[in-house]
Amino acid sequence: MNDPERTVQNLLDWYDREGRELPWRLHPRNRINGMLPNPYIVWLSEVMLQQTTVATVKDRFTKFYDLWPSVRHLADAQDSKVMAAWAGLGYYARARNLLNCARLVVSQYGGEFPADVTELRKLPGIGAYTAAAISSIAFDRPSAAVDGNVERVLSRLFALNVPLPKAKSQIRQLAAALCPNERPGDWLQALMDMGSLICKPRNPNCGNCPIATHCLGRIQGIQNELPQKNSFARRAMKLGILYVARRDDGAWLLEDRPAKGLLGGMLGWPGSSWDGSPSLPPPCVGTWRKVGLVEHSLTHLDLQLDVLVASLAMESIVDRGRFILPDQFNGAMLPTLMRKALKIAETKLSAKSD
Ligand code: ADE
Repeated sequence: MNDPERTVQNLLDWYDREGRELPWRLHPRNRINGMLPNPYIVWLSEVMLQQTTVATVKDRFTKFYDLWPSVRHLADAQDSKVMAAWAGLGYYARARNLLNCARLVVSQYGGEFPADVTELRKLPGIGAYTAAAISSIAFDRPSAAVDGNVERVLSRLFALNVPLPKAKSQIRQLAAALCPNERPGDWLQALMDMGSLICKPRNPNCGNCPIATHCLGRIQGIQNELPQKNSFARRAMKLGILYVARRDDGAWLLEDRPAKGLLGGMLGWPGSSWDGSPSLPPPCVGTWRKVGLVEHSLTHLDLQLDVLVASLAMESIVDRGRFILPDQFNGAMLPTLMRKALKIAETKLSAKSD
């Protein structure tokens, strides 16, 4: 790519014209009128967007923000109310981190989010990507954030034919080199919109792309093959068991997965360590029956998990997990793999009260 400055400018001009209207976003027309981004809004939206789609977050963000319009309001909130408002966004560990972070910002940073990536990373729930995104979007610091969208756009722009895991550090360097000192926050959001509206994973819409003439992938006609995936990487296959139990009052037995490891911090059915020891004991004494099999692929792993179900009496004592009553439970609280097991199990497990 021979004209990085032109590329950046073309993309920013396109963003000014065509950028998405999002409830948490300060559109460039408002910035021209002197408005500044609200770091609380940027942080809240970035945490919500971690592993959740824009469409889902769109519905939730405004409701959440109306309830707690500042970091001080959120820090003072009742834990249970925040957890309830988080339902549907899954990943409860994130809601817990969100609250802890709000309280730390109030108690240790005088209610003001730090602008610096290193300081931001000290806060709960803020990893490398989120810190860079907040620093650039909220504070206009050129701290290039790289997610899957940015990886795809840059892989194509520079026609990187190195498979993705290996290309990551190169992409990071290119992102940092391209990130402008002027409007780095809008640059990042422009890249996000490009990845979502034009430079889509399949069938990129190069005819409407504002930087198509700079795009080496397009010039070489290989945009559809990029980013390259390492097709030779051997995927591991793990076997395991999910224990889905329901008590007579309809309550489901679930557990919070350990913060570290696969589906870390998420809610799930007990019995799923998937570390090669498939026969974990059930979480409770009961009559367990095998009712089906869940097949699911995670990034580097294919899983095959037997689904065992049991109906439990009210006085059942469980070794692990906690019961969640039907009025506090909804499938959207679970990651996809656990939802698949619920779908198999629920027809076999009616509550006595149903
Ligand atoms: N994905 C992650 N952060 C985002 C943002 N601020 N806008 C749109 N999509 C995003």
